[in-house]
Amino acid sequence: MEQVFNRTLTKGFKSENAEIVIQPEYLTVKNLVEEGYPFIFVTGGAGTGKTTFIKWMMKEFHGKVLLGAPTAMAALNVGGKTLHSLFKLPPAWIVKSDIKKLSFNSIYREAELLIIDEISMVTANMLDAISVFLRVNRGVELPFAGLPIVVVGDLYQLPPVVNFELKELYGKYYRSPKFISSYALQKIEYCTIELTKTYRQKDNVFIELLSNIRQGMHLEETLKIINQTCTKNNPESGSVWLSPSNATVNERNENELAKLVGEGKQYHATIKGEFQTDKKDSLPTSIFLKVGAQVMFTQNAPDKSWINGTIGTVLGMPTNETVKVKLIESGEIVTVGYAVWINYQYFWDEKSSQIERKEIGSFHQIPLMLAWSMTIHKSQGRTLDKVHLDLGTGAFEVGQTYVALSRCRSIEGLSLSKELTINDIKVDMEATEFYKQLEI
Ligand SMILES: Nc1ncnc2c1ncn2[C@@H]1O[C@H](COP(=O)(O)OP(=O)(O)OP(=O)(O)O)[C@@H](O)[C@H]1O
Ligand SMILES: [Mg+2]
Repeated sequence: MEQVFNRTLTKGFKSENAEIVIQPEYLTVKNLVEEGYPFIFVTGGAGTGKTTFIKWMMKEFHGKVLLGAPTAMAALNVGGKTLHSLFKLPPAWIVKSDIKKLSFNSIYREAELLIIDEISMVTANMLDAISVFLRVNRGVELPFAGLPIVVVGDLYQLPPVVNFELKELYGKYYRSPKFISSYALQKIEYCTIELTKTYRQKDNVFIELLSNIRQGMHLEETLKIINQTCTKNNPESGSVWLSPSNATVNERNENELAKLVGEGKQYHATIKGEFQTDKKDSLPTSIFLKVGAQVMFTQNAPDKSWINGTIGTVLGMPTNETVKVKLIESGEIVTVGYAVWINYQYFWDEKSSQIERKEIGSFHQIPLMLAWSMTIHKSQGRTLDKVHLDLGTGAFEVGQTYVALSRCRSIEGLSLSKELTINDIKVDMEATEFYKQLEI
């Protein structure tokens, strides 16, 4: 029988799992799923191991999980597909006629679980569309066709991106754009499981300051400490500048590259077979580098000498296929060649009665991107050693400042272009209400 489901995995994904601390909540969720519990929301602050939990679950439920995320960057981070491509949906308000009944839908029928990362950015309309898609393609008249769903994320982080037109539609048809307002969700039983131990940061004082920013508590004292500790005119070298706007980020990356003297080199990607196009933003078809450029690795080294998110400086471009990079944190000098991202096709094998996979395409590119600067939206989900927060004209979205600050492993690695004020901390009231009701 034919396939309909592709998933892109990055190599090195497995070795990352080796050091995972299996939190008790991980086992609770696994048990609930095995018992067929319909819908579980796994939540917790930044760096509590939510994405790590997904990577663990993928191994536990080998090959029987549909894995998606709302944006290409989030999908790349967790090793899944965008929800749009997984469920063949248009990038717009989804109406019933957009939902396709596929002729080869065995993967959706045979899947035992759907996991979605960065659920705070998923809209109610998207979640309802997924429910209809599954009903149509699994042929079961229940919300989400009875497929157990685990959604993972933090409602205090960035909400769905909703433009003016969509805002009007949400105003008319939903309580809010967030997934928690989905109609399908209201028809089933669901539970929330919270991860409470922070792993990304080790320093308890910083963890508490971040928790205050997340919930908008004790802001005066919290900001005073952060401002006193982090406001520096000259951020340390190797800091990734995080800004709210795309324009500021691109301008800074281009300006910094232009300042470098010397010739650059262009690295072109090759695509073999089928490779989904929705990742191209995060996996560029051509990268122009110069000696001195600040870069970020977009994949793990097989021996883990660098991982997805490691920052370095380009020292040289010895050949058309290699780049020499000095890693900022360790000072180590490494040579990186082309890396491969594989597009697997999963199919239901009648003979073995299992979901099997085959490679149908690959994307070959240097696993680097320019990284003097990045938008806060793109940084969501990442772990960074040194962050310089440049809010420019200010944070415009709820959760934005929290996401930026919480990317950084330590307060020592954090710098600010200007002091933070109470106005920079926008807390989502709907999130506050949601989490408050859990405490009762
Ligand atoms: N269970 C764990 N065992 C060991 N280390 C962990 C665990 N969970 C998280 N970490 C460490 O913390 C870092 C952040 O974890 P992860 O990305 O899973 O957090 P998250 O909750 O998804 O954060 P965010 O809300 O920012 O997406 C990881 O890179 C890893 O270093
Ligand atoms: Mg995450």
